[in-house]
Order: sequence, then C-alpha cells, then structure tokens
Amino acid sequence: MQTSTVARSGAPEPSPLTPFATGMEATLAQQARMVAEQVVASLPDADTLLASLPPGALEGSPDTYTRHLVHADPFERFSVMLLVWRPGQFSPVHGHRTWCAYRVLRGTMYERHYRWDPQSRTASQCGAVTREAGDTFSVPAGLQHIHCLGNASDSVAVSLHIYGVEQSRISTGVNLLVDTVTS
Ligand SMILES: [Fe+2]
Repeated sequence: MQTSTVARSGAPEPSPLTPFATGMEATLAQQARMVAEQVVASLPDADTLLASLPPGALEGSPDTYTRHLVHADPFERFSVMLLVWRPGQFSPVHGHRTWCAYRVLRGTMYERHYRWDPQSRTASQCGAVTREAGDTFSVPAGLQHIHCLGNASDSVAVSLHIYGVEQSRISTGVNLLVDTVTS
C-alpha cells in the first residue's frame, strides 16, 4: 500500500489518494458546519442554558476557566459543556482531536488563530477575532484549525461548547495541544 509523504513545502505529495483526501477535508469541514447550524437552529436561549449551571458557578474560579457538563449523549457521540471564564483566563493553544462548536452566551470572548507548520511542528499566530454573545462557530478536527480562546474583557464570560466525544474523554480527547513560535 502506498503511504502519503509530505514535500519540503509542507504540502502533501500528490498520490492516487489525493482526490479522496481532498474530499475528506471538505466532508469533515461540512460536518463541523452542520453542527453549528444545528446550534443556531435549536439551541435554547442563553438564560435557559445558564440556569443549567450549579449555584455560584457563574462566578467562575480564580485558578482557571471552569467547565460544567450540561448534556451527555446517552449513545456517547457528543457532550455539551458550559465554560465560565474570568477576566484574563485563556485556553492553551490547541487544535482539536474532534469537531467542536461553540456559542458565546454571556460577555465577550477573544479568539486567536494560528497557522500550523508541518515541518517545524509548531504554530504561529496569524490573526485574532472578538466573539460577542450570540455568536456561534465550529471547528473541524485537525491542525488546520488551531486557536486559543479566552476572556480579554473585564467581566465574566460564559460559552457553550459541543464536542464530538463522550464525557469521560473530554479532558483527553478534545484539545490537541501544540507548541507555538513567535512570528
Ligand atoms: Fe478549541
């Protein structure tokens, strides 16, 4: 069986499976977009979702952003989490081991984007964007989409995240941590 190789440019060498690989990339991106469309179509309003948080959870933690499981698919296909971010709290820079989608429920989130270099196996920042309450986004699995999400404002922010893993795998099966370089 022929295996794929990577050219010095970082782009895969063409192979008989190139059209299939290109099609798979489009399919996986579409899958993530469809999850986001479902979020937009049928997610409850923010107040209803925030009522799912345990008492006091909206205050967050001084140590790090906090995560609360609010729905576990009984067939273990996905999990829904509420994340509470105090001012200045950020995720690590990461790609994803699974698709994910998120919506900002309260406050303002700040998202940095990174570009992956397969040769050095490092990521460098290539942009940033502010996400406001009500905004919904999705990300397919893989290193083509690397980001860092957090709260750069001076008030608590809350976001809802849907991941394509069952609850026991959220800690290890979602974030794909990467090294970064300053560009
Ligand atoms: Fe993420």
